[in-house]
Amino acid sequence: MTTTGKIVAVNGNMITVAFDGAVAQNEVGYAICGDKKLMAEIVRVRGTRCDMQVFDATTDLMVDDRVEFTGELLAAELGPGMLAQVYDGLQNPLAELADEAAKISKDASFFLQRGMYLPGLPRDRKWDFHPTAKAGDRVAAGDFLGWVTEGIFDDKTMPGHKIMVPFALRGVYTVKSIAPAGDYTVTDDIATLTGPDGKDVKVQMMQRWPVKVPIKCFAERLEPTETLETTVRTIDTFFPVAVGGTYCIPGPFGAGKTVLQQTTARYAKVDVVISAACGERAGEVVETLKEFPEIVDPKTGQSLMKRTIIICNTSSMPVASREASVYTAVTLAEYFRQMGLNVLVLADSTSRWAQAMRELSGRLEEIPGEEAFPAYLESRIAAFYERAGRVRLKDGTTGSVTIGGTVSPAGGNFDEPVTQATLKVVGGFHGLSRARSDARRYPAIDPLDSWSHYNSVIEQDRVEKARAILRKGNEVGQMMKVVGEEGTSLADFTTYLKAEFLDAVYLQQNAFSDADATTPVDRQREMFDVVEKALGAEYGFAEKDETRRFFLDLQQTFIDWNDKPFGSDEFKSLKTALVQKIDGAVR
Ligand SMILES: Nc1ncnc2c1ncn2[C@@H]1O[C@H](COP(=O)(O)OP(=O)(O)OP(=O)(O)O)[C@@H](O)[C@H]1O
Ligand SMILES: [Mg+2]
Repeated sequence: MTTTGKIVAVNGNMITVAFDGAVAQNEVGYAICGDKKLMAEIVRVRGTRCDMQVFDATTDLMVDDRVEFTGELLAAELGPGMLAQVYDGLQNPLAELADEAAKISKDASFFLQRGMYLPGLPRDRKWDFHPTAKAGDRVAAGDFLGWVTEGIFDDKTMPGHKIMVPFALRGVYTVKSIAPAGDYTVTDDIATLTGPDGKDVKVQMMQRWPVKVPIKCFAERLEPTETLETTVRTIDTFFPVAVGGTYCIPGPFGAGKTVLQQTTARYAKVDVVISAACGERAGEVVETLKEFPEIVDPKTGQSLMKRTIIICNTSSMPVASREASVYTAVTLAEYFRQMGLNVLVLADSTSRWAQAMRELSGRLEEIPGEEAFPAYLESRIAAFYERAGRVRLKDGTTGSVTIGGTVSPAGGNFDEPVTQATLKVVGGFHGLSRARSDARRYPAIDPLDSWSHYNSVIEQDRVEKARAILRKGNEVGQMMKVVGEEGTSLADFTTYLKAEFLDAVYLQQNAFSDADATTPVDRQREMFDVVEKALGAEYGFAEKDETRRFFLDLQQTFIDWNDKPFGSDEFKSLKTALVQKIDGAVR
């Protein structure tokens, strides 16, 4: 018997429901609104009443309207068919939603229809199941039963999409039977397992998992020690991200958070990217949707979209599902991690997620914390980032989820609660600065304020030396604004020029130039050697103009070098030219 209830109050997207029977926190229910059923989640239970956030506009919902509870927590569908999808925060496939809406009328397909929900995994599509387990095998949650081909995951260059024992099963099961190789839908039975209690369970390729509960079918968590190659030089060399690590990109409006995340989504060396556009403007998301299918993934030679999932909850979509979108994203990521893959989750922007939390907390009349955010803001943010990690799976292989979130603090003031709560838990901080973005020094990651606890692709002491020059150069630059160039010593002035040189040729990287947008680690190492040589040299110039001319010339040659294909003849000859220029100028 499922529980039912009646609405006793409607307050924005929150409803209070009097119920009979039993309900659970985070259980899903549907509010009946005429011929529509609006999905809602229980956010608080008090006695025989509960508060629910409705994932749709609540217009026309009235007191005494019926609510039907499902007995299930807010869950995602996991299985073949997720890659290349564009979902909303509740895992509704957006393209199919539009097709479905078009059946109502042509105009309707332009707008999201209230109360229309579709399954996250296509039900009619068949997948080529290849069993790897056999009758008699002892298996537990997360163990592999077989695999299917899904896009680039074809068991050739990439492993196949693994079909796993449902994560919710407890204890050791025995495979009673397994389906022969063949084509099956995600809801067809592909195996029968006998449980510790002697009961049989039928297993399908699709399983459901509650999005707010981390998937933990692994042997152990590992230290995130390996650097994740993003091919953004400032990041990999100066403020690295680890495979299985966490980082955040706070920055004022228009400073380049979204562009930086999209660059990372394209070029980072990971197997699967899950991009959660959370409360961002629709236009930006549309750009991603148009671009991604056209971009070729250098690793597989196929469309980038084949290893990407977009969870899209733009500013015009219901606020409540913003909250769900970050959880859905990380749940999908954990699923792929269980196959031994490296997954990158990009959340843009976590501030808008926090705003959704604040809105809900206000409606619940909870005691507000700083800037009216709820007191549990910090623990929610921490719990989200804690779902990142590199793990050793039970079969000995490793998988990882790396999480990067943007934060958009009002006025670019990093002292606000969301930025501060995030900084407490992440391992890397890529702070974007207004001054840099105004000067069009992209990526606008502030080289003085940013930090990372992870390992760089360059030895740490060498990176520190370069940063020291940036710091000193910045000080000289500030001082020069007051005393002018005349009041600055030649030695200080040279340090200033060295810092500017490092900034111009290494830190700045044009995301829109084909050659410069991505710098693989090998190339970064070779570039850094030359930069280091230029920074470490003692030059024999007698005056400032001469020094300036030298660095401008060196800079121009270096930028030309950046444009040349790695390892080409031009690349080699320009490198030689750079080294000769530096050697020729040394005292
Ligand atoms: N790496 C880059 N190279 C060249 N141009 C860039 C780069 N990063 C950002 N820009 C420029 O800055 C503009 C704004 O960037 P973006 O949309 O990423 O900012 P944002 O921080 O996400 O803004 P919002 O806070 O409004 O979401 C871009 O449209 C682009 O013109
Ligand atoms: Mg943005």
